[in-house]
Amino acid sequence: MSDVVTMDDLSNEEILSILEDSVRLVPVARGAVHLPLLEGKVLANMFYENSTRTRMSFETAMKRLGGSVLNFSSIGTSVAKGETLYDTMQMVEGYADIAVIRHPRQGAAQYSADAIDIPILNAGDGAGNHPTQTMLDLFTIMEAHGTIEGLNVVLVGDLRYGRTVHSLSHALIRFGAELTLVSPETLMMPDEIVNDLRSSGATISESTDLVAAIPDADVIYMTRIQKERFPDEDEYAKVAGIYMLGAKDMNDAKDGMIVMHPLPRVSELHPSLDSTVNARYFQQAFNGVPTRMALLCRSLGVEIPEEVKK
Ligand code: NCD
Repeated sequence: MSDVVTMDDLSNEEILSILEDSVRLVPVARGAVHLPLLEGKVLANMFYENSTRTRMSFETAMKRLGGSVLNFSSIGTSVAKGETLYDTMQMVEGYADIAVIRHPRQGAAQYSADAIDIPILNAGDGAGNHPTQTMLDLFTIMEAHGTIEGLNVVLVGDLRYGRTVHSLSHALIRFGAELTLVSPETLMMPDEIVNDLRSSGATISESTDLVAAIPDADVIYMTRIQKERFPDEDEYAKVAGIYMLGAKDMNDAKDGMIVMHPLPRVSELHPSLDSTVNARYFQQAFNGVPTRMALLCRSLGVEIPEEVKK
């Protein structure tokens, strides 16, 4: 199938092939090479929740490949008049060749994929999954380390509500990484995910101590505490600002350790970190363009040439 709702929709071979395609597409993503593979195709960008990078990188990806984009936001549309997701998606099927959807409700992307026949790419469903983010995260790790196998990846912050880490943890385990999960007690990775990862033979440790995890890390993946998912403001206030990394913390890190973050950051990453060799989050955001290009081509059944030439 051409939908991507969770990482289970992609086999390991497909993931590797999308990552190889993404490498070849970097000059196209930068605008240095013109490659209109998706000319005449229309993408519907369906955003029922805020977004900067995901929405813009999908739009850039589509446009750099010669396609066009319909931008939908739940603000200023018939959603305010009470139109259902089902009805809206019926329209989209008639207007576009492929749709990207972000929605506050877990399961909304699968629901959309079941409702219509054009390919659906899940750009984040509540606290559920965010598989296209995982593709750019894997790309960023491979770019830095050349492999995923055997790396110690430390996932930090809101592991309970953070959809990026739900999708990423699955993929990392499939490629042989070890995981260190660092979170406050109230925001630990849900048991069903941890049990699932462990049942596939994964090496996972859980802790509340970020500082202790730095020396052995190959990747530190910081996340924002997902304020909008908390049922209660006071509960948020108890954990807001709990983990922070700054340039001086890098003194304890291994050579080559990278710091990632899906962004937006709140207070997790001090600006002093930005100019260190470890900081990879802005490069990571750029990597959304080639990886989403490769995902769009895969779902639309368009092959990327072996060699992308000027
Ligand atoms: C993330 C998201 O929306 O889940 N952002 C993103 O897509 N880059 C992370 C977040 O909002 O904290």
